[in-house]
Amino acid sequence: DQAVADQHKRVLLAAPRGYCAGVDRAVVTVQKALDLYGPPVYVRKQIVHNKHVVATLEKRGAIFVDETDEVPEGATVIFSAHGIAPVVRDQARALSLRTIDATCPLVTKVHREARRFASDDYDILLIGHAGHEEVVGTSGEAPDNIVLVESPEHADTVEVRNPEKLVWLSQTTLSVDETMETVRRLKQRFPKLQDPPSDDICYATQNRQLAVKQMAPRTDLMIVVGSRNSSNSVRLVEVAVEHGARDGHLVDYADEIDEAWLAGVTTVGVTSGASVPEILVRDVLDFLAERGYADVEAITAAEESLLFALPKELRRDLKAAG
Ligand code: F3S
Repeated sequence: DQAVADQHKRVLLAAPRGYCAGVDRAVVTVQKALDLYGPPVYVRKQIVHNKHVVATLEKRGAIFVDETDEVPEGATVIFSAHGIAPVVRDQARALSLRTIDATCPLVTKVHREARRFASDDYDILLIGHAGHEEVVGTSGEAPDNIVLVESPEHADTVEVRNPEKLVWLSQTTLSVDETMETVRRLKQRFPKLQDPPSDDICYATQNRQLAVKQMAPRTDLMIVVGSRNSSNSVRLVEVAVEHGARDGHLVDYADEIDEAWLAGVTTVGVTSGASVPEILVRDVLDFLAERGYADVEAITAAEESLLFALPKELRRDLKAAG
């Protein structure tokens, strides 16, 4: 009967989940810039790919624009966590904008790798999703040297200038397993292909996928909190289903959960993407508790303690303001 069924209902809650160090830094950058300079503060693109974060900052006076030329001359503009092509920095200078660069330091690292290999005249195979802001930014560092590889299948057909001098780099928020499969297929065709000097898929992406892999075989339904345009969040749903979760869904808010998903479900896995505030996960846990899933077991795959300093241009102004 229902009481017995409810006794077995439970939630597996992933750790780590939610904010990574780069997202935390980017969101705090906008908040501190609003405090320091007063609204409006312009932000080029969504500061991080999360609906709730963007709406909350908008209420405080942040204005999100698509391109730098939408910012009035002399105003303050913050570049998002995903990074920018160098040409964007030039545009901002031409408009005399005050700029604050909230690019995640782990994305900046990939930009640095791209510049270095390009200056040594390598062809760079960049594994990533076409049109994603991070890929647009990284590609802009060396447009003549970078060729995008979008999938393992694409690895079988992509063309390069010189297979002898070739390195691969990647977007920071990809599926680890799928990327390794892409690399394996690239190496079959290009045996001299070099690996990046260090992992481009960041620690946060890796750890969130690791936790999901541990939970998935025990999970009937995986709920990932995150926005549709958040690459790392979308990957978490895919990884869950690939590793044995019977069903998986991405939701921005608890009220997007369809009650029908819970039919016959004993164990619900819950996690969130790297751009997701914890309050949204709490709302999901409350929603589930009200429907009998009150027993919550934490599944901890890694400990995280990384923190990044705020952008130096903001630190300088904060210091000057005392
Ligand atoms: Fe940076 Fe990785 Fe977060 S690249 S913004 S730490 S998801």
